Amino acid sequence: LTIPGIIAKKRDGMELDADDINQFITGVSSGSIQDCQVGAMLMAIYLKGMTEFEISALTLSMRDSGERLQWPQFRGNVVDKHSTGGIGDKISIPLAPALAACGLKVPMISGRGLGITGGTLDKLESIPGYVTQLTEEQINDIITNVGCGIFSQSLKLNPADRFLYSIRDVTSTVSHNALIVSSILSKKAIEDLDALILDVKFGKSAFMKTIEDAGVLADWLLKVSKLLGMKTSVFITEMDTPIGNSIGNSIEIIESLELMKYAENHSKDFEDLVCEQGGQLLLLINKVETIEQGRELIRNVLKNGNALAKFRDMMIGHGVSQEIANELITTKNESSVLKLAEKHYVGRATHSGYVMSIDSFKLGTCVQQLGGGRLRSTDKIDYSVGIRLYKHIGDEIGENDIWAELYYNDEKYDFLDDFNSAIEISPVIVPPLQRIRKI
Ligand code: URA
Repeated sequence: LTIPGIIAKKRDGMELDADDINQFITGVSSGSIQDCQVGAMLMAIYLKGMTEFEISALTLSMRDSGERLQWPQFRGNVVDKHSTGGIGDKISIPLAPALAACGLKVPMISGRGLGITGGTLDKLESIPGYVTQLTEEQINDIITNVGCGIFSQSLKLNPADRFLYSIRDVTSTVSHNALIVSSILSKKAIEDLDALILDVKFGKSAFMKTIEDAGVLADWLLKVSKLLGMKTSVFITEMDTPIGNSIGNSIEIIESLELMKYAENHSKDFEDLVCEQGGQLLLLINKVETIEQGRELIRNVLKNGNALAKFRDMMIGHGVSQEIANELITTKNESSVLKLAEKHYVGRATHSGYVMSIDSFKLGTCVQQLGGGRLRSTDKIDYSVGIRLYKHIGDEIGENDIWAELYYNDEKYDFLDDFNSAIEISPVIVPPLQRIRKI
């Protein structure tokens, strides 16, 4: 079939065969297909869906669109974690170095922002000098010598996902099971892992709106993981509420450093997610006997500075100068290196009570629209845009108390309605947030 013929086949609801899928993916990776054809195909998949056969074939074809990493020398110790995307979701940033500090190897191929959800790679690129595209030699060096690296797909590593990802982001074709499963697992299948944790988010700002939909996606992820021979565990976590204390790019690196320094003001919500997911990985590869032991090992390396030291080495391996890396891990004022935007708006409570909800969709939209995310695939991100949260679900709040601050440069979006209406205050006590719903 021709490419228009393959698009028409999907548009008309027919099942694609492996040759059709391989032909499409080869065209995507080689750049011989036009962007408009890719967009049309993605929309056809979005509207007509894919069978189990098609999803598996798509994942395998994407995995094989480039080269694969191999770690026979580290067998039994190679792990990773990936999330379906959230607001304030910076778990990977301290988790990879924490796992490396426990002696594991974490060759993490991560993602950029999709829609309003932030991307780990974008956040890391806010660190002056951090390069996300590494050569195979650099990946080998960093995994061998440091233990962890957080890098991107490339022309050699899953070029198909690299391109499809950027087109999905701007064609409203992100939130489909077939596309999410193939995107995530084709990246993870390249990494030659012994165990994988996936974090499927549901809620206002997640691609899956309900816990039931998240469950369906989790089942698909487990089914295709099994087919690929990967030992995988899936978390289902709430994503109505932003994770931790911050949303944005530089600001989330600042928050990650606060956790790795175990600073007094670090977020417990964020810490618990890192410990829980890291602990599960340690359990999956039999490094510990119980989840409690796993959690404590991760918490220890956050407390004793070993994760922070790994993060420093990882930054240097990714091109950051020794001076900047040292400054970031020693200073108490990370924003001397990671600049926040000059203008800021202060959110205050209109009445007293208990924080009932903080709308991650509204806050994520403010950050994206003010330049912290992309609206077109070629947009440059303003890393200095961000939100700092001072109150969380269940906290008591007085009238006029500050609950959040928004940092921005350019008033290209009228954020006032979204921002001010993002907090709901109840007159009665509100139970604390239950973030992890199922493993
Ligand atoms: N993360 C990915 O890598 N791909 C998706 O489709 C969603 C989240």
